[in-house]
Amino acid sequence: MCGIVGYCGPENPVDVIVQGLKTLEYRGYDSAGVAVLNQGKFKRIRAEGKLSHLEQKLANETFDGHLGVGHTRWATHGPPVEKNAHPHAVGSTSIVHNGIIENYATLKAELIDEGAVFTSDTDSELIAHLVDKAIAGGKDLFHAVIEIIPKLEGAYSVLAVNEAYPEEIMAFKSGPPLVVGRNDKEVVVASDLAAIMPYTNKVFFLQDEEVLHVIGTKIEFFDQKGQKISKKETVIDWSPELIEKQGYDHFMLKEIYEQPRSVAMAMNPHIDLESKTVRLNKVGFGVGHVEELERLDSAADWQNTLNIFKSVKRVFMVACGTSYYAGMVGEYLIEQLSRTPVECDIASEFRYRHPVIPENSLVIVISQSGETADTLAALRLAREAGAQVLSICNVKNSSMDREADGHLYMNAGVEVGVASTKALSSTMALLNCVAMAMAKAKGQLPEDQEAELVESLLATPSHMESVLAYDSFFAEAASTLKDFRGFLYMGRGVNYPVALEGALKMKELAYMHAEGYAAGEMKHGPLALIDESMAIIMLAPSDELYDKTVSNLEEAKARGGKIISIGSGKNEKLAALSDHYLALPEVSWTINPILELIPVQLMSYHVAHSLGKDIDQPRNLAKSVTVE
Ligand code: AGP
Repeated sequence: MCGIVGYCGPENPVDVIVQGLKTLEYRGYDSAGVAVLNQGKFKRIRAEGKLSHLEQKLANETFDGHLGVGHTRWATHGPPVEKNAHPHAVGSTSIVHNGIIENYATLKAELIDEGAVFTSDTDSELIAHLVDKAIAGGKDLFHAVIEIIPKLEGAYSVLAVNEAYPEEIMAFKSGPPLVVGRNDKEVVVASDLAAIMPYTNKVFFLQDEEVLHVIGTKIEFFDQKGQKISKKETVIDWSPELIEKQGYDHFMLKEIYEQPRSVAMAMNPHIDLESKTVRLNKVGFGVGHVEELERLDSAADWQNTLNIFKSVKRVFMVACGTSYYAGMVGEYLIEQLSRTPVECDIASEFRYRHPVIPENSLVIVISQSGETADTLAALRLAREAGAQVLSICNVKNSSMDREADGHLYMNAGVEVGVASTKALSSTMALLNCVAMAMAKAKGQLPEDQEAELVESLLATPSHMESVLAYDSFFAEAASTLKDFRGFLYMGRGVNYPVALEGALKMKELAYMHAEGYAAGEMKHGPLALIDESMAIIMLAPSDELYDKTVSNLEEAKARGGKIISIGSGKNEKLAALSDHYLALPEVSWTINPILELIPVQLMSYHVAHSLGKDIDQPRNLAKSVTVE
């Protein structure tokens, strides 16, 4: 997940682009760069690390052109070194890219066979090669882009420029967002609104498979075949409340859309991009006060965490509500990766069931607020029993954060919607890191498996951006979905907690009957619920339980249930069995729950919205349940 900006107009493009990148720095900040016209050529300046490093390098540079592109990077392919920073330049072409080109290995091999020389380890560079090759073959910039788009598979939002077309920017996308705004003297294209608002509040949101052609201050839209299309302009009403909601109707929708960012922010402190390894950062087991965490030596603290994890004989996950479902995902991850026994409890049960907490136990408490009474009580009970307690919170210095032995942070930013969304996906990302760390400590994580899992985790924010495209599907489907008698969410294994979460969201937002079930449990009762008035949501990714899950889906289908299935990639069989099939990117089983969250969140949001419910403050609920 990266941030991209393009500018054409009378200002110094560097000023506009760098200012825009600053508003996008949350999207990635392990390197950045600009390519801006100077004396008819694109001058490219790139820097590793934070945007401030690029600004230092730019301080001594001058540019006389009025067009350029810029990029701030979240590395998925290739370490965060200068040669991998965008823009990528080939011949007279420069491009910036946000996303993942799934078929990059094939395309790169073909280009190398034709004599192309690659200077980076990234997937993005091949786009510059393809565009420059098409222009060298006689196409203009517009037609070169139209020619190469069909070759790309995966998620992408791209800006492409070429020295022979000094007033033109081509932009195209499939997945990650792109917005364009213009006034009577300039055009700004960017990954999100924040970079455009200083110049205009009249914008166009590019939809997937749309192409934008900027020519000076003129903008034109096309489909991917090059046929002109017309688009409706959106005027952003930047009222104070809307600024807070960043143009979304509700905080919950804004927070659903923030998830690629918050998942990135959750994992970032704990992943070593160079070595593609996990190393939990400043967990602070044994440190007296959280204020001391910042002063910890990261390497020594990591060794301390490994030593503690190595000695752990049993793990307890304890939380409430949505956070409890995060804990359930953690149970599958930690147990399957580290082979350490894990049990997951609802805090209000754990604190009263006189739990047996043996020596060398680790109790992980999860709480967005860090103040939930039952979870806090469980923490205190665990500490009295002599267990090490690790808290995963979204609020630093909250009660749980202060009283725990070890500390991890969701880094999700303020979560205003009472219905928790980004806190959950951030916690799932963190629990991936905890599970890998535990497995590493116990010698259960071979290096190649660790690298594979880390790469899959790093690619997650980009994949999440693609899945957000289902927003429009559920906006349309909601008017039908709201008429169902009830909803049955089902999944197996690590997907089962997402079924529970989907049902909880439908309950707490639309106030409709919804059940989450382990799909294997259908024949033990829930099957009796199913008829055509019941909507079935089946989580059926291509993991080791896929075949069994499809059998459960066929059982539901045979009884007339209306089925929305959520699976991996193109899947004719699932599509044929379902009334609606939603394809997710094919990822590791450890990541599926994070991607599955988005459709179930969007579904409950739009059904509740179509019913006129109070989305951000559902009846009878509170954001933090600080009493029993
Ligand atoms: C989830 O949408 C609810 N808001 C609720 O279940 C919440 O997750 C639960 O109360 C736990 O809150 P916490 O994460 O702050 O401890």
